[in-house]
Amino acid sequence: MTTTDLPQSLLPTLSGRYYTDPAVFAREQEKIFETDWFCAVRSADLPAAGAFETVQIGRESVIVARARDGKLGAFLNVCRHRGARLCTEDRGQVKRAFQCMYHAWTYGLDGKLIAAPNLTGMPDVDRTEYGLTRVHLREWLGYAWVSLAGEPPSFEGTVMADVADRLGGLQELDAYGIEDLALGKRIEYDVKANWKQIIENFMECYHCATIHPELTEVLPEFADGYAAQYFVGHGAEFGEEVAGFTVDGSEGVERLPGVGEHQDRRYYAITVRPQVFVNLVPDHVILHRMFPLAPDRTIVRCDWLYLPGVVESGVDLTRSVELFHRVNQQDFEACERCQLAMGSRSYARGGVLVPSEHHIGAFHDWVRARTEG
Ligand code: FES
Ligand code: FE
Repeated sequence: MTTTDLPQSLLPTLSGRYYTDPAVFAREQEKIFETDWFCAVRSADLPAAGAFETVQIGRESVIVARARDGKLGAFLNVCRHRGARLCTEDRGQVKRAFQCMYHAWTYGLDGKLIAAPNLTGMPDVDRTEYGLTRVHLREWLGYAWVSLAGEPPSFEGTVMADVADRLGGLQELDAYGIEDLALGKRIEYDVKANWKQIIENFMECYHCATIHPELTEVLPEFADGYAAQYFVGHGAEFGEEVAGFTVDGSEGVERLPGVGEHQDRRYYAITVRPQVFVNLVPDHVILHRMFPLAPDRTIVRCDWLYLPGVVESGVDLTRSVELFHRVNQQDFEACERCQLAMGSRSYARGGVLVPSEHHIGAFHDWVRARTEG
């Protein structure tokens, strides 16, 4: 079947190789992940000077560290001498500096070269020239967003615009005060699927009635297959019998004080390209960061954020967390099932999008424009 044979109401998807071909993934790494703003680290995970995390962004390992002046900085994780990887741990704490294990070049928390062992006959190393390679970092919503581009795209025109488009204005997000929330729970998922499978799945709710029994109990509108993205400006409403966004519809925890009446008892889902999902409910925020590692492997870190007082009180968050944890497990299992078939000749020309999935077509256009232009 060719594109022109398809009924008007169906759109072709990307073909299977977009999910399996290492060359496609390499283009995405270069043109998307190493260019766009990438949500790397939760700022509060690096509370003190010397705290650091390393993250994989495209083909690069990046160190995000808190300097002595309290600011976060981001650097390529490559020693400027002979190129040894400076930090091999995922996270840690150094006292005052990063020291390379090979010849002991030492870099300050601001990336400056502060010591290079000076052997007899060796010329002085220009310390300003050989600091770590710094990349752009911007903090927003309590997270450090990193761009490896020489000239990053406008943060307002990309990241913030995605949020504003979904919510009908950024002021709608301010109400949740995300940067002041505390981490109630984090779960990391190692998903054997291409990152685009995960985005496409998040963008539609055609599957909700089939695989999300708990979610559709809380959000009955989702059983009709409307994607959360269709609820721009007004969100999806909780069912009448539902008290809170919990696995059994029981009451949640203290409502976020800024949440307005029009946002109460509603759920909003936002996709921030290329690798973040934000879910807003009256008493918490769920933020997913994706770390695409291979054509068929993506790490997803999911944070459940609540008022600091709620987290400090030790109140039981199990039912609150369990709802979206189940949604995640159900979604990622479906993504992994699709990934298994992406190399099949049956999917060589892709599949189709039914009308309620049509906005996924716009995402495909975006990926194509970014990687094939
Ligand atoms: Fe790092 Fe030589 S490679 S000090
Ligand atoms: Fe889902």
